[in-house]
Amino acid sequence: MARIQFPDGFHWGAATAAYQIEGAVREGGRGESIWDRFSHTPGRIHTGETGDIACDSYHRFPDDIALMREMGFTSYRFSLAWPRIQPNGSGAPNPDGLAYYERLIDGLLAAGIRPFPTLYHWDLPQALEDAGGWPARDTASRFAEYAHHTVRALGDRVSDWMIFNEPGIFTFFGYGIGIHAPGVRNRDAMLAATHTVNLAQGDAFRAMKEEQTDARIGSAFSFQAMEPATDNAADIDAAERMHAWTNEWFLMPTAKGRYPEHAFESGVPDALGIQEGDLDRIRVPLDFVGVNLYSRGLVRAVNNDAWGWGARIDGMGGSEGPQTDFGWEVWPDSLHDLLVRLDADYDDLVFEVTENGCSYADAPDADGRVHDVRRIAFYRGYLAAVHRAIEAGVDVRGYHAWTLLDNFEWAEGTAQRFGLAWTDFTTGERTLKQSGHWFTRVTDQNGFDPEGDGEEA
Ligand code: FCB
Repeated sequence: MARIQFPDGFHWGAATAAYQIEGAVREGGRGESIWDRFSHTPGRIHTGETGDIACDSYHRFPDDIALMREMGFTSYRFSLAWPRIQPNGSGAPNPDGLAYYERLIDGLLAAGIRPFPTLYHWDLPQALEDAGGWPARDTASRFAEYAHHTVRALGDRVSDWMIFNEPGIFTFFGYGIGIHAPGVRNRDAMLAATHTVNLAQGDAFRAMKEEQTDARIGSAFSFQAMEPATDNAADIDAAERMHAWTNEWFLMPTAKGRYPEHAFESGVPDALGIQEGDLDRIRVPLDFVGVNLYSRGLVRAVNNDAWGWGARIDGMGGSEGPQTDFGWEVWPDSLHDLLVRLDADYDDLVFEVTENGCSYADAPDADGRVHDVRRIAFYRGYLAAVHRAIEAGVDVRGYHAWTLLDNFEWAEGTAQRFGLAWTDFTTGERTLKQSGHWFTRVTDQNGFDPEGDGEEA
């Protein structure tokens, strides 16, 4: 089999999120976020942990940069904590919060790594949740102001930005099923939140471009390649509705100025609260689409489900492929299939893979080595799938592994380890896993031999 060789200039990197790694939640004037409130509420995090310390990257970011240098990464996707920059979600930016990100970004630039920040990876200032949160339309204007202040302050150092991380997940998990902050369970609140987020994305895009005309601005969306669980017509139809709801609910309004009408059995729900002119406000030419993808979705038709989709997914993927510790199916074709489909259905999309990875608990052995061969197999498969999409003509500019180091995995606490580096949560020490060493060779050669080089064993 031919070598897998990526295009020149292809970006290699890892992704993280502020609340999952920074810790230092009371330092530098940072305000409270909905994740502080949620993780401190008994019963919300399965392990009873909080992100108060996490990986302590607020103090240890030079260690993080050293890991990336060792792996030869040229891009670091991280997120900015809104409550560090605006502790209460409005008003003048907090200089200490900005100073932290300046130190981090300067460290990355000095190491030859592209700083690739996301403005919002789920840590809404609690004060804004108290004022109605994402279901309240006004939050879109607050967000655009935050985006404006941030780009004004950091735009001299950052050229490529993401607005949101996974709007589909934080609205559905946060306001629909309540398993993430702020823990609300209300279908109408969830739908209203999705519309505010779409408005916020349009408003923020314009505010950012006004400040920095040559900025490259995208968003990272959660995607799952949808497949009907059987080949009967009802399941095929259900898979299409699930594709529209899951994969296009934020992309289509942004790119085409309309909602995917067939996502819900009865059309676009009134609970969105769409007002005159909203769709023009939402439509903006994103410079790239960030693809977060972990698995496929096997979809079945159901009657009268609470959401109005007429469709259901059982877990993350099926049971044909290997399962990660999270129970997510390893199914590399899903990344290829999703990229190829979006490329066909939309005009001129440019992609960056912004998250893809797996949780396995492999721990240091007696010699201190973390022998995570299943993770190497995972990355081999998914990277080969990205490469096939590129060969088929899809414009993919970079790949970011989720994640740089084991961290606070939301409601799972530190129980799910996705890192290329092992984190000792008692000492804060990081140890590159075998998969991290494997990436060093991949970035060095800008590709790999699909037959294996024997070195990862
Ligand atoms: C994604 C999130 C990321 C991490 C991975 C495992 O949905 O964006 O923060 O939790 O899943």
